[in-house]
Amino acid sequence: MSDRLKPLEGLPRTRLGHYPTPLEAMPRLAAELGRGGGLYVKRDDCTGLAFGGNKVRQLEFYFGEALSEGADTVLITGAVQSNFARSTAAAAARLGMACHIQLEERVAKSDPEYRRSGNVLLDRMLGATLHSYPDGEDEAGADRRLREIAAELKSQGRRPYVIPLAPGHKPLGALGYVDAAREIVGQFEALSQRIDEIVVASGSGATHGGLLFGLRALGSAIRVTGICVRRAADNQRARIIARCREIADLLEIANVVDDADVILDDSFLAPGYGRLNEATLHAIDLAARCEALILDPVYTGKVLAGTIARAGETGPDHNILFLHSGGTPATFAYSAALTEALAALHPQG
Ligand SMILES: Cc1ncc(COP(=O)(O)O)c(C=O)c1O
Repeated sequence: MSDRLKPLEGLPRTRLGHYPTPLEAMPRLAAELGRGGGLYVKRDDCTGLAFGGNKVRQLEFYFGEALSEGADTVLITGAVQSNFARSTAAAAARLGMACHIQLEERVAKSDPEYRRSGNVLLDRMLGATLHSYPDGEDEAGADRRLREIAAELKSQGRRPYVIPLAPGHKPLGALGYVDAAREIVGQFEALSQRIDEIVVASGSGATHGGLLFGLRALGSAIRVTGICVRRAADNQRARIIARCREIADLLEIANVVDDADVILDDSFLAPGYGRLNEATLHAIDLAARCEALILDPVYTGKVLAGTIARAGETGPDHNILFLHSGGTPATFAYSAALTEALAALHPQG
């Protein structure tokens, strides 16, 4: 590990995933896009814990802290189809802890599959207790309510640990991607292959900020393009800059990320969080048919749409890595919208 990242080793961590995740070429997708090659995928959908995904890396540091504090119950808040919540329920089950999930009304969908299938079904199977919160855009309010539930549990003799949502808290999750930067750089070195750019989802910013910080701390100048999945680029930029500063503070090292290094693209966000658009549908379709990669409409479909756009803007010598951050169970929660849209795309079946 780079000396700069040494403080990472001193923080509490609980191993939850299977690493390293595979790094694969996407030759058929590259050919489809008229390129000789130069497209890769980092399979963080294969982190292993109950359908995997990026949140598994992030949770290793939250659960590390929870266990070091003697917690027996973990609480988290998120969208109805939150992958973070499902991964938390999975980690809690594995570690013999209780899990309380607060589901927020972030996507205006009354579809029974959205409410019952995908991640919600898994939350139930994993034994989590579900609560609901009526607002999907009130991060501070959702955190406040979660802390109230934690206080109630404490009064009943439990030892709760809250994973907060709103910005400004210790960026423990980002540390998972600070560390993943080392894994990715090592994999490309072992292949004697240069990588020029990594395209990632930019939601809470734990993945984007952590990866960017980790790369720069390792002395790597690889471009990181964040695809906005939740909010517009200007708003998101401030979050990523803040996240990098918070990572530096947590590790007690200098901030190695320049503001100019924070690159965002929000052209695949419309019509909004968790809503499908044409470029995303096209990306989901190509990923499945060319590379047998299953992408979801909320995160990874949008990120591959951004990757395809970057592939079109750059030459074939520009090597791009798409970070597949998981989200697989959500495909089932969106099955009605996906079935209809794919049928329109391929009327012959
Ligand atoms: C599958 C998937 N990809 C990407 C993201 C975004 O990651 P981050 O919150 O670290 O920005 C999430 C967040 O929930 C996710 O579930």
